Amino acid sequence: MINTHNKSTHKSDYRNNQWRLDGVLPIEHQILPHYFKSAPKGLVNNFCTLLSRDTFSEGDAQVLYDYLMLRKTEFSGPFVTMLKGWLGDELKHYEALRRTYHCISGVSFLEMDRLFAARVHEIQPIDRVLVDEFTILVTMMFDEIGSVYSYRRDLREYYCHFGPEIQNVGRHLVKDEGLHFSQAAELILDLHSDRLDEIEALLQDISNLEHSLGTYYKTFFLDHAQEQFRFPPHFNTVIIQVVIARLGCASYPDASLLKSLWQGIGIESSRYQFKTLFFFR
Ligand SMILES: [Fe+2]
Ligand SMILES: [Fe+2]
Repeated sequence: MINTHNKSTHKSDYRNNQWRLDGVLPIEHQILPHYFKSAPKGLVNNFCTLLSRDTFSEGDAQVLYDYLMLRKTEFSGPFVTMLKGWLGDELKHYEALRRTYHCISGVSFLEMDRLFAARVHEIQPIDRVLVDEFTILVTMMFDEIGSVYSYRRDLREYYCHFGPEIQNVGRHLVKDEGLHFSQAAELILDLHSDRLDEIEALLQDISNLEHSLGTYYKTFFLDHAQEQFRFPPHFNTVIIQVVIARLGCASYPDASLLKSLWQGIGIESSRYQFKTLFFFR
């Protein structure tokens, strides 16, 4: 049984991380040839595959935001304010990853515009996690903390091989997704603490839905459904425990367990898992 007496004492106040993309990765940035030459075999191709997914998933934030704004009257003022800041961050991530993808793969920005415009976004497959502000916030916590560990691993496996600018993009992604996770937690504690006893079952439902989807429906949430073969089998169990712990309802998982989410698999194995993913889909 979840302990529900741990209540927040502070009011939510959206604070986005202030970093200027042009200062971190200028649009005209080019990666020096020696980084490509010294990168482990196969790594560039795998990074391109990763970016071909992550870049557009970040851009899908606009679709989710537009959908939620159609239901704006259902939501609290602090939630709507948080969403505006969140969208600004996610669109910055989209542009940061477009630049990264361009630098690594040579795919043009025009081609990326075309690819994004051709995407089909479906809300209906995930609508059971979008019931109300509370379930949206819990889904956001689940999704954002998953992104923290996923980007942390990607930073170690990919971003760090292509110079300080690309590495810093990865670092900012990790930091921002962590902030989004925390902002959602603070709103839950401030506005929905009477529903904390629903958290555990809801998180399990979100995780089950992600597994059953088998694919990503291009509406931002549950985008890890497209990459779940890259993650260790206990990934969702551990991040669910992190969410519950952040809300003060359980203790955090062991540090070694957390580390296993982003240090578990080396480049060779991840290359194999990419192959598995391609053959599966
Ligand atoms: Fe993001
Ligand atoms: Fe985020």
